[in-house]
Amino acid sequence: ALAGLDPDARAVADELKSAIEEIHRVGLVTMVRRMRADDAARAALFDLVDDPTVHMLLSLHGIVRPDPVTHANQVLASVRPQLHSHGGDVTLARVEDGIAFVRLEGACNGCSMSSVTLRNLVEEALVQGVPSITAVEVLPNEPTPTLIPVESLRIGRDPASEGWVRVGPASGLAVDELSAVTLTAATGATVEVIVVNAGQRLSAYRNECAHEALPLNNAVLDLDSNTLTCPWHGFCYDATSGECLSAPGAQLEQLPLRVDDGDVWIRVTA
Ligand code: FES
Repeated sequence: ALAGLDPDARAVADELKSAIEEIHRVGLVTMVRRMRADDAARAALFDLVDDPTVHMLLSLHGIVRPDPVTHANQVLASVRPQLHSHGGDVTLARVEDGIAFVRLEGACNGCSMSSVTLRNLVEEALVQGVPSITAVEVLPNEPTPTLIPVESLRIGRDPASEGWVRVGPASGLAVDELSAVTLTAATGATVEVIVVNAGQRLSAYRNECAHEALPLNNAVLDLDSNTLTCPWHGFCYDATSGECLSAPGAQLEQLPLRVDDGDVWIRVTA
């Protein structure tokens, strides 16, 4: 509306607006000072500052320093019970240039519909609840790789007696896909294995989903997110470590794999 006024009228309106804002600011500063000086009133003041509208009003007048991290954590605390009830959780990593960077855990972190809903809940809560946050970015979780002892990766003179089985030439494994193979150990035992070739990086897992031990032959390998999603009920795994992103603590059983003279070997027994 001010833009429609002629320059003189606009200058007067601007001056009037500034004067009113200054009266508000001085009045608020007086109230805050008096409340801070009184023990009982100080507690009420701190309660009031937690109120989003009061906090915004005081922030607008430069009376409280906006602290988006504290505020964002308060907002996340309010949605946490909902996340916990679905087996999920969230942690705030940092707030930078109005963007909240979060890490999602448990049921929040996966490929299912419910994880998408929980993610939306976190995003909405932060963007609507914290005035200085305009966007939310989900950081990838740092996978906890399965540790395979180095000794188990060495192939000795008699690989078969050590449980190693030759799979075939590495060049024969489809790139950016997973291959299901049946390997026969020297003991005669057969082991179903999947070999994931994500960007030429090979990982081998026993072909059993950590959920109900069903085969992963038709699992979906997503190279963008480096995840492997079980076709049966959607459990989602880190393709390189086998860590389950849908259920904390669950894990695909990773098998030692090495490439020797162009051939892929997998150790199926200890
Ligand atoms: S068997 Fe894989 S998600 Fe159920």
